[in-house]
Amino acid sequence: MRKLKAGIIGCGSIAEQKYMPALMKLKEKVEVVSFCNRHLDKAQKLAEKFHVKQPDLYKNYQDLLQDESIDMIFICTPNCFHSEMTVASLEAGKHVMCEKPMAINTKEAKRMLEVSEKTGKKLTIGYQNRFRKDSLLLKKACDHGDLGEIYAAKAHAVRRRGVPTWGVFMNKELQGGGSLIDIGTHALDLALWCMNNYEVDSVTGVTFNKLKDQNQANLFGPWDPETFDVEESALAFIKMKNGSVIHLESAWALHTLDDREAMTTLSGTKGGAVMQRNKAANRDELIFHGDMYGELYEKTIDNHSSIAYTPSSLITDADKEIGQWIDALIEEKDPVVTPYQAYVVTKIIDAVYRSAETGETIIYDELDY
Ligand SMILES: NC(=O)c1ccc[n+]([C@@H]2O[C@H](COP(=O)([O-])OP(=O)(O)OC[C@H]3O[C@@H](n4cnc5c(N)ncnc54)[C@H](O)[C@@H]3O)[C@@H](O)[C@H]2O)c1
Repeated sequence: MRKLKAGIIGCGSIAEQKYMPALMKLKEKVEVVSFCNRHLDKAQKLAEKFHVKQPDLYKNYQDLLQDESIDMIFICTPNCFHSEMTVASLEAGKHVMCEKPMAINTKEAKRMLEVSEKTGKKLTIGYQNRFRKDSLLLKKACDHGDLGEIYAAKAHAVRRRGVPTWGVFMNKELQGGGSLIDIGTHALDLALWCMNNYEVDSVTGVTFNKLKDQNQANLFGPWDPETFDVEESALAFIKMKNGSVIHLESAWALHTLDDREAMTTLSGTKGGAVMQRNKAANRDELIFHGDMYGELYEKTIDNHSSIAYTPSSLITDADKEIGQWIDALIEEKDPVVTPYQAYVVTKIIDAVYRSAETGETIIYDELDY
């Protein structure tokens, strides 16, 4: 079998921490040959760090796309470039895995979806939280009907102080928003995926930027209040066409003790499930609960237990995520994260921002521009 060839556009933190380590473990199937970054030294450093021999280095992504031998592109640039770079890559005949969020608004995400369909080239978005052990188990239980009809959900993406101070995360023009588009997107994706419901009726939301002067105790170091022009938190209520609801909360900074990220809480007709952080035990937990013979029960799944001889800790969520993407290309099947699902997440986030701006409830089908 011919090895697939890959190029990376954007050689920053996520390319270094998620993509390259995972791709290095898939060397039998894929070879990373090209690196593009607007500051060429970053492209060079990334290739060197992972001992890539004779890499092709580019400053301009259009030049990279001229290389006909490249099968797929990984897009790891700030959010505002996702759509433009994905569309150009698909049109150049490449498959694309683009980092989350899919795009900064509905219009740009729609274009990505349409061009993927038109060109027949595959597209997926980097929602690696679907590949966590707890998420995979929860999804199995949901698909199996263990919770019955899931009609109420919460999507949690809440940090007490975790404003990303590297890169351009606080810049509205380049990122399209703050905590909601950055981490809210993961939690919302998880909730929709578990519910397997992409039929949205309406969205009501608010955003806040009230703590920008309280830049101490931040996980990633203090930020500059002068350059913080996106929301630090957002709350939203999403109604689905079948009457189910999702309560979405996202925050990079919030005075709360209920901080948990990329997690969901689900309530169904047969039972419920909660993903949560057990702070005392310093671990994540997945709890299934319900009633049985007239009694209420809870069953906690310890997410850290594994059979001793299974080296599960050596296989990261990103390894699983990128592995299934490569297999989807080789076996010509759909990736786990389809572009349509990511499009719906993007459109809901766009609707939350629109609702926060106007103070109105946004009818999902009417949001298009
Ligand atoms: N999946 C996750 O959980 C996760 C985590 C972090 C970041 N991300 C996403 O990854 C993307 C990048 O984030 P990051 O943390 O790596 O940021 P970063 O700032 O560390 O890296 C971005 C890189 O892109 C380069 N770049 C910017 N514009 C470019 C252009 N026009 N052409 C070529 N290169 C360009 C920058 O020089 C930089 O090296 C964002 O969309 C972010 O949302 C996802």
